[in-house]
Amino acid sequence: MSSAESVPVITVDGPSGSGKGTVALAVARSLGWNFLDSGALYRVVGLLSLRHPSKPAAELARGVELHFEQAADGTPQVWLGDEDVSAAIRSESVSQAASKVAADPRVRSALVQAQRDFCRFPGLVADGRDMGTVIFSDAGVKVFLTASVEERARRRHKQLIGKGQSANLGDLLRDIGERDRRDRERSAAPLRPADDALMIDSTALDVPTVVQQILSQRALVATG
Ligand code: C5P
Repeated sequence: MSSAESVPVITVDGPSGSGKGTVALAVARSLGWNFLDSGALYRVVGLLSLRHPSKPAAELARGVELHFEQAADGTPQVWLGDEDVSAAIRSESVSQAASKVAADPRVRSALVQAQRDFCRFPGLVADGRDMGTVIFSDAGVKVFLTASVEERARRRHKQLIGKGQSANLGDLLRDIGERDRRDRERSAAPLRPADDALMIDSTALDVPTVVQQILSQRALVATG
């Protein structure tokens, strides 16, 4: 058995704004495990594709040199070489670019190994769209987190306003709907729950409640 096979993995997949990033990070911290924000990889490739529109996205994905760090206050940071791109990759234009490059199967296969490299002791919590269906299909715990599109747009609106940025709820609703459609309808690794995923609708749930549900599931699997 390879060491990667014996490392416990929890996957948290779902559409944008379902809260999976916040929840997955909290689960990883609570267990003391590693954390993979796979969307950040697609976002960085999206950012690069906006900067280098004439280069094929798969080529940009193959050469991507990205690493994660933690700011002094614990906030996760994303570095592209020696550039901190944490803020740049969260813009709406990069969100749209990321979901476009993510539909390209060559981009997806260029990023597979980089994602699996995060699977290290003592465990991994991986958040994304295809963590449970493709990248870590043997994971012991798989979660699919959803929330209504209105609630997801409202959360994003609150987040942007909190950062002092301007935001329009109607525009966000439309953008999120468009991204959902692209993620669900693409032929390469479309967004869908794994057959053995635990489905959680977070529309009316707060973060600690969802985290607790996932930790209970982990405890069940670990003792089962
Ligand atoms: O999760 P996040 O919103 O940061 O992801 C940005 C985009 O990257 C998504 O809209 C999706 O198109 C793509 N993505 C993906 N597969 C993943 C993670 C993200 O296709 N595992």
